[in-house]
Amino acid sequence: MKHKSDWGIIGMGVMGTSLARNMARNGLNVSLFNRHLEGLEEKVAAAKVTRYPELAQAQPFDALQAFVESLATPRKLLLMLPAGDAVAQMLTDLSDFIQEEDIIIDGGNSHFEDTQRRMNSGAVYAKNYLGMGISGGASGALWGPSMMPSGNQQAYGVVAQDLEKIAAKTASGTSCCTYIGAGGAGHFTKMVHNGMEYAEMQLIAEMYVFLRASKLSNAAISTLFDTWSQTASNSYLLSISAAILKVKEGTHDLIDLILDKAGNKGTGAWATQIGAALGVSNSMMAAALYARFNAADKKLRIQLSQLFDTSPKTPEIELDHLLHAYDFCRLINHYQGFRMLESASAEYRWGLELSAIANVWRSGCILKSELMDRLFEKLKTHSILEHPEFQSELIHGFEALKKVLRTGISSNIPLPVCSAAQQFFLQMTQEKGSAHLIQAQRDYFGAHRYQRLDDESGSFYHTDWENQ
Ligand code: 6PG
Repeated sequence: MKHKSDWGIIGMGVMGTSLARNMARNGLNVSLFNRHLEGLEEKVAAAKVTRYPELAQAQPFDALQAFVESLATPRKLLLMLPAGDAVAQMLTDLSDFIQEEDIIIDGGNSHFEDTQRRMNSGAVYAKNYLGMGISGGASGALWGPSMMPSGNQQAYGVVAQDLEKIAAKTASGTSCCTYIGAGGAGHFTKMVHNGMEYAEMQLIAEMYVFLRASKLSNAAISTLFDTWSQTASNSYLLSISAAILKVKEGTHDLIDLILDKAGNKGTGAWATQIGAALGVSNSMMAAALYARFNAADKKLRIQLSQLFDTSPKTPEIELDHLLHAYDFCRLINHYQGFRMLESASAEYRWGLELSAIANVWRSGCILKSELMDRLFEKLKTHSILEHPEFQSELIHGFEALKKVLRTGISSNIPLPVCSAAQQFFLQMTQEKGSAHLIQAQRDYFGAHRYQRLDDESGSFYHTDWENQ
């Protein structure tokens, strides 16, 4: 009779396999499950055991009941499946074989509302169901991802030690896995991470396009990004961008051979929608998402480029201004992301700790950066826009960004995410805005009423505008 495994991993895709290898390397016994699909997915788990030496002791299955029975109780199951139907179907199938004490963790990119619904469903798995955002891609999953679990805190207590062991560690040795909060807070946090990731990626792409229009070669831009990476601007995404720009295919730079059209798996769109539903501005991730949509509309772009001449002209800008503008935009992106978390925490009563989330994002994930290291400390007391230590960076960065945008506009360089950062900061730092006219317009056509500056009680007034 074989020993019972500590963990069962369901779904032997790249992430599931890498996490299983990570667990095994860290001394945990694992059972592996992958569905059997005639001619398409056959003996997938067994093939992983043969392929990866760390998995030599793992037990592979393609029959669900035998897989579940191979686990020590209470069973600890990690689902690494595509969000949506695949998770729903697996939970239905598992319900026949599991007990209420068993702990199921959804480690995919599920929508946080699905996760919350599953927790409240009354199903056999509901009580101890955990949602866990995982970031870091395949290599993060293998060597230490950033993990964002949420749900029943007692259930988390049972799995905490194992998860914290396999997660990435910060330079000071703390684990980049911590209990995030109740309900779907973990998947929500990962969704915001991805929205911020979209904006960070698009920001670097905007810097790149600006520099290319300035006639810098890919190699020169790579060197510049490497130089920026030696400063407090360092981030994982910047460093991989520098590396990407060095790659050659024959005599060509590979980047020049890649179609300028990017897809998306949906978490950026969710983040954008939910920011709007919460009533917080996440204009940078929204701008990055729309930039992807516009990029994907390549055929139309080709047609329209023949109707309108907006081809880029060579801009002139000091590289220092570009760097300070870039840093400024990143501060605004992080401000917006953390504000979104704060507002969701209030709405859903999750009790999120922003500094603890920054800590989880300091290593293992796509957003890891020097800035995140700073935010771990700074967010304990103030938001980015209110913290005295960010004041002078924001003031100087804003001036640099205005120079970049002025040059960008006159040189026909699209900078949607940079522009979103500038407009957000400008609007948020002016006491008097433009919404008094909006109030009056709404009252004119819809009798929605308005509040007055000269009445501090906040009472609402209506004017018969047409008979004035
Ligand atoms: C991560 C990534 C990961 C994945 C995204 C990409 O944190 O490891 O965010 O989850 O790369 O799914 O999403 P898009 O396909 O939408 O860019």
